[in-house]
Amino acid sequence: MAQRIEGKTVSESLRATIRTETEAFRKETGVTPGLAVIIVGDDPASAVYVRNKHKACGEVGMYSEVHTLPQDTAEDTLLALIDRLNQDTKIHGILVQLPLPKQISEEHVIAAIDPRKDVDAFHPVNVGHIMLGDYHFLPCTPAGVMELLRFYNIPVSGKNCVVVGRSNIVGKPQAMLLLEQNGTVTICHSRTTDLAAHTLRADILVVAVGKPNFITGDMVKEGAVVIDVGINRKADGKLTGDVDYASVEPKASFITPVPGGVGPMTITMLLKNTLTAARVACGVFSQK
Ligand code: GUN
Repeated sequence: MAQRIEGKTVSESLRATIRTETEAFRKETGVTPGLAVIIVGDDPASAVYVRNKHKACGEVGMYSEVHTLPQDTAEDTLLALIDRLNQDTKIHGILVQLPLPKQISEEHVIAAIDPRKDVDAFHPVNVGHIMLGDYHFLPCTPAGVMELLRFYNIPVSGKNCVVVGRSNIVGKPQAMLLLEQNGTVTICHSRTTDLAAHTLRADILVVAVGKPNFITGDMVKEGAVVIDVGINRKADGKLTGDVDYASVEPKASFITPVPGGVGPMTITMLLKNTLTAARVACGVFSQK
C-alpha cells in the first residue's frame, strides 16, 4: 500500500505561506507583485489554466492581468505586447500560455520575454542558470515535483532517479533538479530500448510522457516513489495520468494521484516565482 502524495494539501500549505510573504513584502516595499498572463486563441484547456492562474494570484494578494488575443494574431503583435509588458513596472512576471497558434514561433516569443520576468523559466538565459545551479526561477512543474518530495521527506541523494520524458518543460529540467540534489539520474524517452529495465531500477520514478497508463506495475520496483506528471483526458472527460495507478500503487511506497498530485503544485510554483521576481526587481531578494 503506497502513501498518496496529496498535492492539493501541500499546495494549500505553500500558498498560505506565499500569501503571508506577499503581504510582508508589500508592507516592506509598498509593491504588489504583478503577473501578466497572455493567451492566444481559444483552446479550452488553456483557457481553464489561465483562469485558474488569475484566480490564484488574487487569492494570495497579487495583482494579475490576462491578455486574450485572437487565434489569428500575428507574431509581431504578440511580440509588441511582450515588449510593453517588459517595460511595465507593475508587472514582475510574464507568462505566455502554450501551445501557441502555428503562425507564431514559440522560440521567438520565449526569447522576447525579459529573463527577469520569465516566471516559466523557459528563456534560454534561465535554462542556462538552471544548468549551472544559480537560478532564481525554476520551471513550475519540475519545481512542484521537488517540493512534493521535500514535503514528504523523501530523500533524493544517492537514489536511482529515472525520468521518463525529455521535454524542455518537464523532463530535462526535472533531471537537472534531481541531479542537483545528488540523485543518480537516467533520462528515458521514446527511443529508449527496454524501458522497463531502466524503470525497474528506479527508487524515484518521474513520468511525463502524455500517454495514459504508460507505466504499469510490472515496470516498477517494490517500494519505489512514483511521480505522475501526466494529465490526459479520457473519452468520458475524466482525467488520468501516465501511470496505471491500479497496478502500480500496490508496489509503490509513495504515489501521486491524477488529478490532485503534481497538477495543483504548478500554479503554486508560478506564484512563488512571481513573488521572487518582484523581490529581485526591488532588490530585496536573498537565496541560499
Ligand atoms: N502550457 C502547459 N504547461 C504550461 C506551462 O507550464 N507554462 C506555459 N506558459 N504554458 C503551458
